[in-house]
Amino acid sequence: MKNTSIIVAIAENYAIGKDNELLWHISDDLKRFKKLTSGHTVIMGQNTFDSLPNGALPKRTNIVITFNKELKIPGCIMAYSIEDAIKKCDLNQEVFVIGGGSIYEQFLEFADKIYITLVHKNFDADTFFPKIDSNKWSIIEQTDFPADDKSKYAYSFITYVKK
Ligand SMILES: NC(=O)c1ccc[n+]([C@@H]2O[C@H](COP(=O)([O-])OP(=O)(O)OC[C@H]3O[C@@H](n4cnc5c(N)ncnc54)[C@H](OP(=O)(O)O)[C@@H]3O)[C@@H](O)[C@H]2O)c1
Repeated sequence: MKNTSIIVAIAENYAIGKDNELLWHISDDLKRFKKLTSGHTVIMGQNTFDSLPNGALPKRTNIVITFNKELKIPGCIMAYSIEDAIKKCDLNQEVFVIGGGSIYEQFLEFADKIYITLVHKNFDADTFFPKIDSNKWSIIEQTDFPADDKSKYAYSFITYVKK
């Protein structure tokens, strides 16, 4: 679907989270996330919303997906299915699906772009990103960064588009 992008940070073993937290802190990755998503709509599952330290992300329209129709979160648009979330977006602009595991899995078929931060290490985790099928997705951009005093791990920014 046009203008529907996934943004995710993934380990080599596809790990993305544990105990409802992220697995690493890479400040340049957070900066990139903020730069790409600011001014846009972000879509997330209820667990990912719960994991945010300060609630709804500022300068973005926040859509939170839950099965719980009683749940209302200040500053957020609630959606009760993937289709409902899509209906509540303005797809004339790029929309970002920001996690977590279950939401990525269900959105992968609808997305037309994936912004990945690939962290070059395996992590112990309880939440994983689905496998990216190279028959369906191609890489259009990749920039690699070594480990340094700002990041404990080497990582790459990789952009995929659906074929
Ligand atoms: N590395 C990254 O880039 C990244 C990004 C984001 C998150 N994460 C990590 O991912 C983990 C969280 O992922 P997760 O899979 O546990 O949770 P999640 O995908 O964030 O949220 C799951 C919840 O979303 C709701 N939901 C899911 N599918 C739905 C549907 N079709 N219709 C209505 N509601 C639906 C349900 O909420 P209710 O239970 O309220 O009904 C479900 O419990 C955390 O560890 C987090 O840190 C990593």
